[in-house]
Amino acid sequence: MATTSGRPGIFAVRDVRSLITETAEEGHGLKKAVGATHLTAMGVGAIIGTGIFVVIGEGAGIAGPAVILSFVLAAVACVFSALSYAELASSIPVAGSAYTYTYATMGELVAWIIGWDLILEYGVSVAAIAVGWGGNLNAFLDSAFGVALPDAIAKSPEDGGVFNLPAVLVVLAITFLLIRGVTESARVNLVMVAVKLLVLLFFIIVAFANFGTGNFQPFAPEGVDGVTAAAAVIFFAYIGFDAVSTGSEEAKKPARDLPLAIIGSLVVCTIFYVLTATAAIGIASPETLEGSDAPLAAALDEGAGISWAAAILALGAVVAITSVVLVIMYGQTRIFFAMCRDGLLPQRLAKVNQRYGTPARLTLVLGVLISILAALIPLSEIVKLVNIGTLFAFVLVNVGVIVLRRTRPDMPRPYRVPWSPVLPLLGIAFAVYLMSDLPWDTWVRFVVWLAIGVLIYWLYGYKNSRLRRDPDGTPGWARSPEEGDPR
Ligand code: ALA
Repeated sequence: MATTSGRPGIFAVRDVRSLITETAEEGHGLKKAVGATHLTAMGVGAIIGTGIFVVIGEGAGIAGPAVILSFVLAAVACVFSALSYAELASSIPVAGSAYTYTYATMGELVAWIIGWDLILEYGVSVAAIAVGWGGNLNAFLDSAFGVALPDAIAKSPEDGGVFNLPAVLVVLAITFLLIRGVTESARVNLVMVAVKLLVLLFFIIVAFANFGTGNFQPFAPEGVDGVTAAAAVIFFAYIGFDAVSTGSEEAKKPARDLPLAIIGSLVVCTIFYVLTATAAIGIASPETLEGSDAPLAAALDEGAGISWAAAILALGAVVAITSVVLVIMYGQTRIFFAMCRDGLLPQRLAKVNQRYGTPARLTLVLGVLISILAALIPLSEIVKLVNIGTLFAFVLVNVGVIVLRRTRPDMPRPYRVPWSPVLPLLGIAFAVYLMSDLPWDTWVRFVVWLAIGVLIYWLYGYKNSRLRRDPDGTPGWARSPEEGDPR
């Protein structure tokens, strides 16, 4: 039942029980097939990618060797929000992540805004990440075989090409995999996660074997400001642990496995990141890292004199980024699925394919849209926009924990954030702090994006919301022809 706690105005909230009940509706139930290992691998799959293989160079340019501290600061900023995600994901195991939690706590308009905002974190970032994938593929072809795709079919118009063919191909291939099934996707992801961890381990071992302390002086040339400014950019490297929560509905044992996977994947990646950053500075100067499109390969080349390592690092980056595309795109399909099921987007798209148990139609539509975007956009600048959108979602998830503890104190919570509201408040403070460190033009783009979202809600979502259309809980797609379909 789509009940509300008040009149269905723009701040009407969804009842948690009805949200959970709807996950079992015929034709709208996703397959519950994912266990703890695959969920944790999903987190690691979404997290380790462009951030550590590419953006680390930008961070080193801003903070110097103290970029290591920026990695620690960004991880601390994430951990409080990760705890809040864990509480909400285990208590409300429904597709949609922050969007769904907000619908249950702060009402429809805020939920729509966060759903729209999450398109930045998921849909837009997949397109950007796919562009990074194309760049690394070319780097691999070049270093391994001495060939590279011509710019015309390997770069966006702004970067001097016509369209980015590799980015389009990777998005379409992943779309196909996601349509085939969540189990298949999770298995492929597990293999890719193993490969990327091995490549990073290779980097860490070789770098520590050639380690020197010369590059650590001066440690923080730009002081604390440099460390925090770099953390606001490096934050991109941690995005993804929250993607685990978008798949809550498909978890076999959500109560136990979701908190484990969300917090576990964040801890594993933090350890890898801090070791990788320390190892990189141990063999290469911050200037070397900053000046390269493939900073880790450049570090091995310069610091350890191993030029053949470039091919291994580039291949590792290609595999790593493929799994990021896979999991982040998976997250986007599940958030859209929840929004369509709620009627804020066309409800018919929220149909689960009977054969594969996945929202096939929706996945195809999104795959085509994202591949068009990936063909045409450049990577630069998108990172900051993705960061601000994600941090905004973190703020609302932390607020959600505090609000739900007051409005639904008796709700079963398999996992509880300790010392609430202190830790969620710290999560909010860290997210706002990092947001404030992003440039003003990023803020302007973000506000314009949200304004477009509010307009779409006003024109479509408000009228078509299931909360308003089907107050008795009978969804439009389940009505008989005699009753008529409201759309
Ligand atoms: N954390 C993801 C990456 O680094 C988005 O690519």
